[in-house]
Amino acid sequence: MIMYKIAFHNKVEIPQLGLGTWQITDKPQMADVIRAALSLGYRLIDTAAAYCNEMAIAKAIGANEVKREELFISDKVWNTSRGFADVQKACRKSLKKLKVDYLDMYLIHWPASMKLYPNWIEINADTWKGMEQLYRDGLVKSIGVCNFKVHHLQELMKSAEILPMINQIEMHPGMNQTEVLNYCNANGIKVEASSPLGNGQILKNEKLIEISKKKGKSAAQICLRWGIQKGVIVIPKTTNIERLEENINIFDFVLDLNEMEMIDNIPYCGGIGIDSDEVVEFG
Ligand SMILES: NC(=O)c1ccc[n+]([C@@H]2O[C@H](COP(=O)([O-])OP(=O)(O)OC[C@H]3O[C@@H](n4cnc5c(N)ncnc54)[C@H](OP(=O)(O)O)[C@@H]3O)[C@@H](O)[C@H]2O)c1
Repeated sequence: MIMYKIAFHNKVEIPQLGLGTWQITDKPQMADVIRAALSLGYRLIDTAAAYCNEMAIAKAIGANEVKREELFISDKVWNTSRGFADVQKACRKSLKKLKVDYLDMYLIHWPASMKLYPNWIEINADTWKGMEQLYRDGLVKSIGVCNFKVHHLQELMKSAEILPMINQIEMHPGMNQTEVLNYCNANGIKVEASSPLGNGQILKNEKLIEISKKKGKSAAQICLRWGIQKGVIVIPKTTNIERLEENINIFDFVLDLNEMEMIDNIPYCGGIGIDSDEVVEFG
């Protein structure tokens, strides 16, 4: 099985497809999913402190023989741990829960909302200073953000000493994210598509089904392949072992320009659809 990789500006490489784990909290289920995923060739595992599954992931990884250096573990700091000191504490807590010495990638889960915090720029800048410190201390091999829009990135880059390596944003057919994607591409920031299947909601779209019949691939595979050809990292979540296999078998076909354009033109379809400027602080 071929697995494409993408290199960050610091030369760290990330697999272009990984496993999303939001809403998988059950330990035996996590063990089954991770065992199957690793044997199928998945190496990137996306988690977050807020998913409350870091310990389940640690247990599942511990039961397998894949070496630590072959894995790419990505975690996120939650909104309640923003700021220079707290983000560092939160990271150390996550490292303990995951039973690892370092993370391959650590992300700010949400920017501070401008609706709630008049000083959102300073909060994000201060949290980023803590991320930079973790990077310099070697506890995390790469650092980035999630759900940052162009204005969040522009402000952050005014004070950042290390540019974010990645921005994880909701992106799937029906949510092209053209503006953020173009901005990130122009500034050397890689994009990772969360909810690359639109949280399952886009899979019944008739254009996707038409292309899927023509290619002899499932609608999910078409969504993921579209993401791969857009140059982004995709992290679909499933607890179904057959779908795990389906979701990784996307490196043996190509969507042509016409098919890519048809998918680009699918009208808006919100999957999770949270606007980070509107977001109410949850949790
Ligand atoms: N940074 C953020 O704020 C953020 C936000 C959202 C998500 N994420 C990350 O992105 C990951 C993926 O996003 P997501 O979990 O929202 O949704 P997703 O991966 O877009 O879709 C998952 C849904 O699609 C179903 N599914 C998976 N593969 C399928 C297939 N081949 N055919 C049909 N249905 C399929 C799953 O059901 P089954 O499990 O029953 O198969 C589940 O209901 C998350 O797990 C998380 O790691 C990050």
